[in-house]
Parts: sequence; C-alpha cells; structure tokens
Amino acid sequence: MIAVAVLFILLIMALTDKTIAQSQTRDKVPFPTLGKSPIKAVIAAMTLEEKAKLVVGNGFNLPGTKPEGPVIGRTQDKVPGAAGTTFAIPRLGIPATVVSDGPAGVRIDPIRNGDSSKTYYATAWPVGILLASSWDTALVRKTGAAFGNEVREYGVDILLGPGMNIHRNPLGGRNFEYYSEDPVVTGYIAAALVNGIQSNGVGTSIKHFAANNQETDRNSVNTTVSERALREIYLKGFEIAVKQSHPWTVMSSYNYINGTYASESHDLLTDVLRKDWGYKGYVMTDWFGGKDPVAQMKAGNNLLMPGTADQSEKITEAVKNGTLDEKVLDENIAGILNIILKSPSFKAYKFSDKPDLKKHAELSRGAAAEGMVLLKNNEHALPLAKSVHAIALFGINGYELIAGGTGSGDVNKAYTVSLEKGLSNAGYHIDAELRNIITSYLSDEKAKHPKKNFFEEFMNPTPPIAELATDDVVIAKKANETDIALVAIGRNAGEGSDRKLPGDYYLTETEKRQIKSVADIFHAQHKKVIVVLNIGGVIDVTEWRDNADAILLAWQPGLEGGNAITDILSGKINPSGKLATTFPVSYNDVPSAKNFPGKEFPEKATTGLMGRKQIPAEVTYEEGIYVGYRYYNTFNIKTAYEFGYGLSYTNFSYSKLTLSAASFNDKITATVKVTNTGTVAGKEVVQLYISAPATKTDKPSEELKAFAKTGLLQPGKSQTLTFVIKASDLASFDANTSSWIAETGEYTVKIGASSTNIKQTKTFKLDKDLVTGKTSKALTPQVEINDLKK
Ligand code: BGC
Repeated sequence: MIAVAVLFILLIMALTDKTIAQSQTRDKVPFPTLGKSPIKAVIAAMTLEEKAKLVVGNGFNLPGTKPEGPVIGRTQDKVPGAAGTTFAIPRLGIPATVVSDGPAGVRIDPIRNGDSSKTYYATAWPVGILLASSWDTALVRKTGAAFGNEVREYGVDILLGPGMNIHRNPLGGRNFEYYSEDPVVTGYIAAALVNGIQSNGVGTSIKHFAANNQETDRNSVNTTVSERALREIYLKGFEIAVKQSHPWTVMSSYNYINGTYASESHDLLTDVLRKDWGYKGYVMTDWFGGKDPVAQMKAGNNLLMPGTADQSEKITEAVKNGTLDEKVLDENIAGILNIILKSPSFKAYKFSDKPDLKKHAELSRGAAAEGMVLLKNNEHALPLAKSVHAIALFGINGYELIAGGTGSGDVNKAYTVSLEKGLSNAGYHIDAELRNIITSYLSDEKAKHPKKNFFEEFMNPTPPIAELATDDVVIAKKANETDIALVAIGRNAGEGSDRKLPGDYYLTETEKRQIKSVADIFHAQHKKVIVVLNIGGVIDVTEWRDNADAILLAWQPGLEGGNAITDILSGKINPSGKLATTFPVSYNDVPSAKNFPGKEFPEKATTGLMGRKQIPAEVTYEEGIYVGYRYYNTFNIKTAYEFGYGLSYTNFSYSKLTLSAASFNDKITATVKVTNTGTVAGKEVVQLYISAPATKTDKPSEELKAFAKTGLLQPGKSQTLTFVIKASDLASFDANTSSWIAETGEYTVKIGASSTNIKQTKTFKLDKDLVTGKTSKALTPQVEINDLKK
C-alpha cells in the first residue's frame, strides 16, 4: 500500500516536472539552439522545408558580374565575391557560413559598391604546382597559416581548396592548381596547407574528389579506371590529406567515376571516404555538380552548392513521397552543423577586413623562391655574375608576369611584380629601348581586346597575346650594349578547358625563333642566354633547350613573382625546388597521351551550365597505375627532366644510409647523411623510393614513399635525415580481395636526389605476405579495362 502511494506521488512529481519543462520551452527558450542544445534536438526542431534548404546553398552571383549580369539562383553576399553561402535558420541559432575560392589565395571582390577608398585585395600565393616543387611541408604549412589568416580576416569560413588532383597528363588545364603526378607528394603537401589554413579556426575543402584529371567535358565525362589505380594513385593523396589534416570539408568532383557521378556515389563518399578512411567532416558538391539531388543526399553528399530552389524542392518532395528517408537528410544536416559549430560565423568573429598584406607579400615571395626549379645551368651561367649590370629582357612575359592561373584559381591581387620590375628593384639595368618596343606592342595588342567580365571571359576566353618577334638587327644591337640576355616565356590556363599542343605545350614558331636568334647572336659575343619559364604546367623543352645556357622554371609564383625570380637569378637565394611532375622528351611518351581527353559523343550533346554545350564523353585510364615516373622508370622511357629533378648552385653528397633492421617487423627507420660539398649554402630535397618484390603483383620499378628537405646547409656542413617506412608503404592494392597486400621478399630502399639519380641503396626482407589493410568493395568498373602491365 505504502509502495503504491509512493509510486503515485513519484508519478505526480514527474508529470509536474514535465509540465514545467514544457511551459519553460514555450515561455523562455522557444527552440533548441545550435551550440546550446544537442544537434539532434536542433534538427528535430526543423521543418522539412528548412532541412531541405540547409543541405542546399544559397545560390550565387557570378563573381565580377554587374547586377544586371547573369544571376543564377539567389544570393546572400555576406562577403561580396565569395563563391557561396549556406542557408541560415536564425530561430535555431544557425548562421549562414561563407565559402570562398581558391587554392592560391582568397578570391573575393576587391572593390565594393564602387567605393575605392577601401579595398579588399588578397595575397596571390604561389600556385600549387610551385608549392609542391618545394617539397617542404614546413614551408607549406607556414604559408597556409598566413593564407588562413586572410580567410578569417576577410570573413570567410571555408576556403575552397587546396586542389589536389593528380597530374595525369601535362595538358590538364588545372594542373597549376594541383600538386604532382605522385600521390605521396600530393597528400603531404595538401595536408601541410590544410593544417596551416585550419590553424586559424577556419575550414578548407580539399578538391575535386575524385579522378577529375581533365577539364574537357568535365561535367559529362565518364572516367573508367581500375580499382587499383584509384586506390593507389587517384584516391591516395586524398586519403593522406584526410588522415593527416582532417579538412573540414571535401568537394566532390563533376565527373562520373565508373558510371556514377562522383557527387552521387555512395561508394566514394560513404564507403571509401567515411567507412574506410574515417572522415568526419562534410562533403559539398562542386558548383552545380551532378544531376540528382536525391541521389546526392543518399550518397552522403551533405551540401549541394551553390544551390538552387529546384534542388530543395526535389528533396522535400522525395521525403514526402517516401523515396528519401528523412533520416538520411538528418545525417547530412548533422555533418554540416558539426562544422558550422566551429566556424567564425557561428562564433560571431569580428573579422577586420585588414589582414597584414605587407607581411604576407614577403612570405609569398619567400615561398615562391623555394619552389622554383633550376632545370639547366651550363658553366655557371647562374647566379648572374657580379659583372652583369645591363640586361636585355626579351619576351612579352618579362614585362607582364603571370602570378597564377585563370578561373576560380585566380586571385584579385593589388599588384603583380613583373620580372622587369623585380630585376630593377635589385639594381639591374633593364635595356630601355627593348623595353619600350615590347611594352608599346603590349599596349597596342591590349587595346584590341577590351577587358571582359568573368562570365564573358569564361564563355569566350581572350586569346593570349602572341609573342613579339624581335628583329635580328635589334638583337644584335642589344648583344653589343648589354651583358646578358634573358628570354621570358609565359603560359596560362585554368578551369573549363585543357591546354593544347600547338603553341601551348609546344612553343610557338616565334618563341622558338626568338630563343634561337638571341642565342646565336649573344653567344657570338660570348654573352649568355637565360630562359625563364613562367608557366603553370609542363611544356616541351627539347626543341629549344640546347640554345639556352640556363633555364629557370619559375612556375606561376604569385604577386611577388618578379622579386622572387630575381632572388634566384641573383643568387640571393640558392634554388632548391625539384620537379614533382615529369617533363617528357615527347608528348607521345606520356602514358595517357592516347587516352586524353577521351572520346566524345557529340550526337548526344545537350545544353549544360550557363548555356554551354555539354557533350557526353568517355575516358579510360588504360595506363592504370603507371602514371608519371612510375611509367617512365619501369618502361625505361627517357625523359627531358625526370620526376624529382632540380639543380642547385652547390653540390651535395649522400652517405651512410642505415636501416634500423635487416628484416621488416612493424616499421623500419632509414637514416642518411647529406653534406653540402660545394661553395655556397643550400638546401637539398631527398627522396626515398622503394622497389618491392613483384612475384604475384605487377609493380612499378620504384615508388616514392617519403621525402624530406634539409635545412640551409653551409658549405661543408651535413645533416642526417630520418625516414620511417611503415607496413602500408610496402603494400599494393588487390582488387580481388579489397585489401592492401605486402608481398614477402626483398625490398630495396633507394635514396635519390631524383627518381633516376639514386645515391644510396640498402635492402631488407619481409618474411611473409602481410595484409596491411582491408577496404570496402567500391567503385568497381562496369567494363573490363585492359590496364597496362609490365
Ligand atoms: C570549380 C571549383 C570552385 C567552384 C566555386 C567550380 O567551377 O571547379 O574548383 O571551387 O567553381 O567557384
């Protein structure tokens, strides 16, 4: 009886508590709030319409277009010129967050509301291909930290970068934004940049996930590629970046992979990314990527960018008619909210709009010099001798440097230091007559092509200004009047199209003739000729390099480029960059040459984004895992400049390679001593390759597994570098068992100054086959691929 009475009283108390709690909710805290209530409660308080809007962005204005220009969707420009925003639900404490391009600097409108009293220019950092050529993760991290400060101080929550697709083919239009033909360099350089940027409390979006290795038909191409090539080459870099740096977001790519749009692929976005790699952030589409918003939701593509009303409607409809489980929507939202919680917008961070651009310009200059690669240097043509004062600077590019590529990878910077300006800043005298001829030609040519806005330029790119053929009489005069000739060659590219062979990969006839004439005439006077390459991707060098005494590959070095190039030419900085991508002897040697950019089906063309023709296309990666040096080394194909190659003004010797054990058990540590044997201080990039036994599996003759860069070594000084070889470094992917397998046998550790210049080797044994990892069965090709084999 007493027990019943007690129970009755407890029940009354519980009911009263509940009533009090309910009335509190009604009177004081009307809704759960993000940050204060559990995410589940916040989601439970959303209407279906709100949910369907949160997984879809707010639309966008094409950057650089005037209000009357083409507007796609709606826009909420918290930060004018940013690429997009997420939907806000103020009643639940959810702010809009801002995402902005791009991999080489914050891409926002520099002038707002016509007010020129205040500007919003950002630092143009050296492009990705240059950063990777530094092989210096500490430098890239430091660059990222400064870059991320601009992201935060300009009010942006997530930076849409780094871009990290593999350089499958030299003609890839976005190779400048990407890092390397090798996934290990790609992964560690990307992770360093992400760690640097995110140390500011802002996010990144590693892109474009995955196998987006061409711009031709980027929205319609079906990439057919083996599971092994995917895992070992095209996914590997992303896997490293995800595990080493936890990027807040991942951007799915436009293309299909083995028959499914990347943004609609559950295999890619859920099985590989989340289950196999443990990824915790969210996935957003590339802009207007994919077709079916419901399939995208089911695949685990949390956010559709930049977002259209139609996508939200389709998602709402699918939940209502039962074709989309609301739980899937809730999970995608939870992924987004987890990141919003960390964002500056959520924390109501008061950004200054005033990052320290001066300090960042200095950092950009320093980083640029570290990734430039000295390709040729006969008889110490460089650094410029103390006797060199007067310089004849040939080539239009000498007066108009290309800081970075086009499209979303471009940055609105306040200025770009030309090579001419950089040289004059350092006290060199640039021949005025030649400068006047070239700069007035440039102004005349520009007058013929009035500047277009972003949209017009994207739809109908202005052709590059053709090189000016300098008259032999002028060249002869300059050979008398100056101490040396510099010939600058420039190339630009960007999203939307790949590069072409004639006049782009190959130099134009005018360019080749110019190098040859300058060389013939200057050499007759015993004066040297230096070629500077201001390019974003690989070009042919074999047709003209014999004419040059030295070649400096300056890449696209950001806004301080001219100063950074001069730092190398003058010897103020000793070059230490090395190639993270191969320069072949002939384009036809490129393993993907016969399968790039694939086959089009014009008869099935439809109208795509912005009224552009969209042509269905197919590309098959028949070269399989044999990309870049994996191919050239294994099949003994001579290259012009191999992967990992780069000269210095000093020399290094390698000695005392030591392995921690003769037989593998868990891991092996390798140490090697590097000594500066030359006469000036310098840094050396050291590469560790492994040759694995290949009794059961076909394998490249060697693969890069680790790399390191010495500090600045004074002449005679040494440094011992340490590398750790893990079990996973020995394994290859076996598609039959969806596992990573290391074969028993003898492994050779090769320490190289490049992929072919191996300095020290040592072997160790693995006693039995090892399974180093199990994966989901995912991304299986729908057709048989005739993968290249040794
Ligand atoms: C590009 C992305 C970029 C996005 C937003 C797309 O066209 O492929 O790299 O982040 O636009 O501008």
